[in-house]
Amino acid sequence: MTTPVTDIIRDDPQILAATAARWIADRIAAGNERFRIALSGGSTPRELYTLLGSSDYVIDWDKVVLFWGDERFVPATDARSNFRVVHEVLLSHVPIPAQNILPIPTDGTLEDAAARYEADIRREYEADTLDGKPPLFDLVLLGLGADGHICSLFPNSQVLEERTKLVAAVPAGAPEPRITLTFPAIESSRAIAFLVTGPEKAAIVARVRGGDQALPAARLKPKGEVFWFMDKVAAGK
Ligand code: 6PG
Repeated sequence: MTTPVTDIIRDDPQILAATAARWIADRIAAGNERFRIALSGGSTPRELYTLLGSSDYVIDWDKVVLFWGDERFVPATDARSNFRVVHEVLLSHVPIPAQNILPIPTDGTLEDAAARYEADIRREYEADTLDGKPPLFDLVLLGLGADGHICSLFPNSQVLEERTKLVAAVPAGAPEPRITLTFPAIESSRAIAFLVTGPEKAAIVARVRGGDQALPAARLKPKGEVFWFMDKVAAGK
């Protein structure tokens, strides 16, 4: 990654989540009139989403447009659903307009759902290519898998080579079929913020930041700034 990289390291996951929530609230406040965020799935961001859904942070939700970085191809009521978590701890607590919530479809066929999400993103972006200004997203939140995956871009998978589509179906490689943003979509963001905690992530964080190209996270070519929100143990401190 050759773009500016900033580390934000805190003692524990709770303090880190509060720091990230404040940082996001401040970026939304300073951002343009349609602040597009691609949310991460997984378990790490739950505390962050819970805080953003609380009254501790004053956010103008009318200007926020929420996307998802990836989704498990399961019903929105399934415990594995990335949308379900966000709905439970954030969406059901804040006055965000329904039309500003753009979950990844998980009905119909996997490929068709991926194509529909691509169409949703392109409609929001109002351009055929990402080469224009501004970037597609204002912020992409990413977790980091123990194998170095981001979204549902898993090591040694064909989808890592996709540089045209913004959204791809991932029929295999995970416990369930997935739909994921591709590298071009993730990279087209003013800012990418990793949120990584726990001693079990320290080794993979070091490998990614060391540029190990076997790891999808290390292959990102971000157009904007990169921020690493980590607790001390994930940062190897
Ligand atoms: C998903 C995520 C995935 C996640 C990492 C880290 O749908 O699972 O998008 O990329 O961010 O696997 O997950 P944890 O935060 O649970 O460690």
